[in-house]
Amino acid sequence: MNYIDKIADAVSYIEQRLEKMPDIALILGSGLGGLGEDIRRSVTIEYKDIPNFPTISVDGHRGRLISGELGGKEVIAMQGRFHFYEGYPLQQVTLPIRVLGSLGIKKLIVTNAAGGVNKDFSPGDLMLINDHINFTGCNPLIGQNLDALGPRFVDMSNVYSDDLIQIARMAGQELEIPLREGIYMWFTGPTYETPAEIELARTLGAAAVGMSTVPEVIVAAHQGMEVLGISCITNMAAGILDEPLRHDDVIETSIKVEDSFKRLITQILTSM
Ligand code: HPA
Repeated sequence: MNYIDKIADAVSYIEQRLEKMPDIALILGSGLGGLGEDIRRSVTIEYKDIPNFPTISVDGHRGRLISGELGGKEVIAMQGRFHFYEGYPLQQVTLPIRVLGSLGIKKLIVTNAAGGVNKDFSPGDLMLINDHINFTGCNPLIGQNLDALGPRFVDMSNVYSDDLIQIARMAGQELEIPLREGIYMWFTGPTYETPAEIELARTLGAAAVGMSTVPEVIVAAHQGMEVLGISCITNMAAGILDEPLRHDDVIETSIKVEDSFKRLITQILTSM
């Protein structure tokens, strides 16, 4: 089956189950999935039931779509995402974004857990992503361009929407939740970075590093979606503190931040 048909199958399965068409999609990162429980009049669709969807293999990530009302908007949230390090080709990692785009959704809020590279950051900080760096050599758009989905060459100069960043800033101010801003750099994982790689990332201007988001955002940009990216700084990146990096700490910090994260996203949705 070709890629377009795979997307179409998943779309028609989801469309049959949704009661209302969502306007905004959310991707909930490691340990941030709890926001899904705040969605009202919710319809839940398990990834394993959606034709052609990959299946989840990482702790801290559930595997389902939850659609309904949040902050007065019709939303659909991915509770759990797919990562390149799980062994899926990038076209498979980003298939859900293709599906969300084909459902007619034009706005995407993408969240993640990230390591803080900027030494002024602390674990628990929330950071608005104002740009990204992809130095992996991988890109989900490599291969034949599917013109039905988007153009061959994609402008990446305003991928993280200034308008949405401004809305997020205002939401942070209203709720008195301090927000950082900076560049997110994608590493494939599954290893955490070396201290030397983190030095490199800082030299290049990155404020945070992580193992997700960038492939999804590239595909969203290809489809002409407007993107807001928010990182939860769950730990200081390698070499900054004299302690090892552990996935359990990533999950633990994201759970601590969950309440302000939920309030922030809900306020952003209200203002959108
Ligand atoms: N590096 C990469 N990915 C991450 C990190 C990190 O330090 N923390 C959470 N996700």
